[in-house]
Amino acid sequence: MLNFNMIALIQLSSVVVYLAGIVALALFIYDNFISVLSIIRAVLQPYFQPQLPQTLVDKYGKWAVVTGATDGIGKEYCKELAKQGLNVVLISRTKAKLVEVCNQIEAEHKVKTKWIAADFSKGKEIYGHIENELAGIPVGILVNNVGKMYDYPDSVENVPQETLWDIININIGAITMMSHMVIPQMKKQGKGIIVNISSGSELQATPYMAVYSASKRFARTFSLAIQRELAEHNVEVQCVTPLFVVTKMNQYSDTVMQGSLLVPSVTAYTRSSVFTLGKSNETTGYWSHGLQYFFMKLVPERLRTRIGLQMGKKLRQEYLQSQGKSKAM
Ligand SMILES: NC(=O)c1ccc[n+]([C@@H]2O[C@H](COP(=O)([O-])OP(=O)(O)OC[C@H]3O[C@@H](n4cnc5c(N)ncnc54)[C@H](OP(=O)(O)O)[C@@H]3O)[C@@H](O)[C@H]2O)c1
Repeated sequence: MLNFNMIALIQLSSVVVYLAGIVALALFIYDNFISVLSIIRAVLQPYFQPQLPQTLVDKYGKWAVVTGATDGIGKEYCKELAKQGLNVVLISRTKAKLVEVCNQIEAEHKVKTKWIAADFSKGKEIYGHIENELAGIPVGILVNNVGKMYDYPDSVENVPQETLWDIININIGAITMMSHMVIPQMKKQGKGIIVNISSGSELQATPYMAVYSASKRFARTFSLAIQRELAEHNVEVQCVTPLFVVTKMNQYSDTVMQGSLLVPSVTAYTRSSVFTLGKSNETTGYWSHGLQYFFMKLVPERLRTRIGLQMGKKLRQEYLQSQGKSKAM
């Protein structure tokens, strides 16, 4: 027979377990729906606080800077921002493409553009040039978009050293140094937003994309840290974590490049992610990516990493087969 103290102890333990369950569930819901709630709040805001700045130009100023601006997500950011009346500075490595995209944007939207040719894989040496070119431009929005993946998923020792240095310089160096460059000016202006494009691969370690996924975890951690540093200066930081999007970065895989409900076109993706700009400071940028993220988070991290391993192997195999190199696996 259990005595009275034992029964009381069991009842107390049940209450503690019950409360811990409720708290864990509440935190999970908060963590997953905070982005959607902030977007809904921002959409409703004009009806309740019409006195607040509503457009991106009113909120952040006339000029945006986008890195990796001549293709994929970066190019679409430039077009979407120009559509909303922002002048855009495009930074990328290929002059001919920069001129072409600038001309296209100026012809389609009544805004100014400027281009800066710079190769972020060169590291430290390029930032003086970029800073000189940006002098006098009141940057309100910085989109740290430029990014590099391996040519195809592979285990780290097979990836050429040069590619690994490029990823470090581009995915980690550019986001850090470009933010370092514009923050003093944004603080002085008392407004601005830095948008850092991370990747869903940062949610867990992603085998066969080890350095890429680690660099994207850097982007997220860096974003969340400077978000707090800058909040009191009215400077915002948004971390965007896309999953697969149809761009040339994924051209190693026909499956990804075909697109689907889960793998949107770059236009559909970027239209949606620019819509979240200034509305949510952490987002996947696209509804079906948000759903994928939600379900992925239900799975324990170690298991996600194992699933990532299988996905990496499959994508590698698909690429090597397409190159007639399957025997090399
Ligand atoms: N696509 C996806 O599925 C996906 C998923 C998650 C996250 N992301 C992230 O989203 C961002 C954009 O990716 P994306 O797929 O749009 O890439 P993308 O289509 O490959 O375009 C990359 C852009 O960056 C420029 N660029 C590349 N290397 C450069 C360098 N060393 N210096 C200066 N500019 C350089 C390219 O210029 P050139 O035209 O001269 O090559 C191009 O304009 C990246 O940070 C990526 O990690 C993409």
